[in-house]
Amino acid sequence: MTDRTGRLEGKVAVVTGAADGIGHAIARAMAAEGAHVVMGDIDDAKGEAAAAALRSEGCKADFRHCDVSVEADIAGLIAEAIAKGGRLDVLVNNAAIAIGGMPVHEMTDEQWHRLIAVNLTSVFRACKYALPHMIRQKSGSIINMASAQGHIGLDGWTAYAGAKGAVMSMTRQMAVEFGPMNIRVNSISPGTINTPMNEKVIAELGDHVARAWVKMHPIGRIGKPEEVAEAAVYLASDAAGFTTGIDLRVDGGLTAAPRFVPDLV
Ligand SMILES: NC(=O)c1ccc[n+]([C@@H]2O[C@H](COP(=O)([O-])OP(=O)(O)OC[C@H]3O[C@@H](n4cnc5c(N)ncnc54)[C@H](O)[C@@H]3O)[C@@H](O)[C@H]2O)c1
Repeated sequence: MTDRTGRLEGKVAVVTGAADGIGHAIARAMAAEGAHVVMGDIDDAKGEAAAAALRSEGCKADFRHCDVSVEADIAGLIAEAIAKGGRLDVLVNNAAIAIGGMPVHEMTDEQWHRLIAVNLTSVFRACKYALPHMIRQKSGSIINMASAQGHIGLDGWTAYAGAKGAVMSMTRQMAVEFGPMNIRVNSISPGTINTPMNEKVIAELGDHVARAWVKMHPIGRIGKPEEVAEAAVYLASDAAGFTTGIDLRVDGGLTAAPRFVPDLV
């Protein structure tokens, strides 16, 4: 772990989808900054191992099984944070799935409902269970994982983009509603990040997609999970005390401008 300065010392943070990818990087970074991290995921083996690894490094971390599409699991995860840490300062709604790569008329109702349950309804529910604690404390930071795809269009990802757009709208709405209670609500929109989610997309759609992704980012590469984690640590920290209702793009310039890349066409 890199040198840290205890930016989240004394805080209790819940991170969903924390066993792998961006969520895992966020849990690691927050724990390294002194937070007690309560990690939820459907992958119990990876999640338990990730929490145990953090504890072996002297960090405070617990894992609990949490399928974010199951209301009781979300309630249990928040309750675990209160039971273990005595408070709830940070909620990172990170878990999501990528169902896409097909036009709207080829998507089944079942795929649509699954995506909305995991990527959108989960955010509503986690906020619903977390907010009473934050309201009582008169403080809190909610960080919702959105996506560059909530800002720009990409063939085949209408449902995913729709859910991410809704996550951003809900973020703004809640920032307004709960600002007077000193609860900040922000989202992060990553560009393409090197995670298992994208390995799966490349396996399904082919290597040419990976090459195209690199070219679509003006910075000339895709991102690392740790680069998104840094943004989450900032938004969780007191240094972001006057920052609410924003969407922080961590996207290598992907959404800054449409790029004409001749050898892609
Ligand atoms: N990777 C990217 O390029 C990228 C870009 C923009 C936004 N995002 C967003 O960042 C977040 C993390 O993406 P990632 O690439 O790290 O994903 P990932 O698929 O690599 O990892 C997701 C983690 O969530 C867990 N998970 C899956 N379904 C779950 C469920 N129902 N309940 C609880 N946990 C579940 C998985 O087990 C895994 O540990 C997502 O919200 C995603 O939409 C990712």
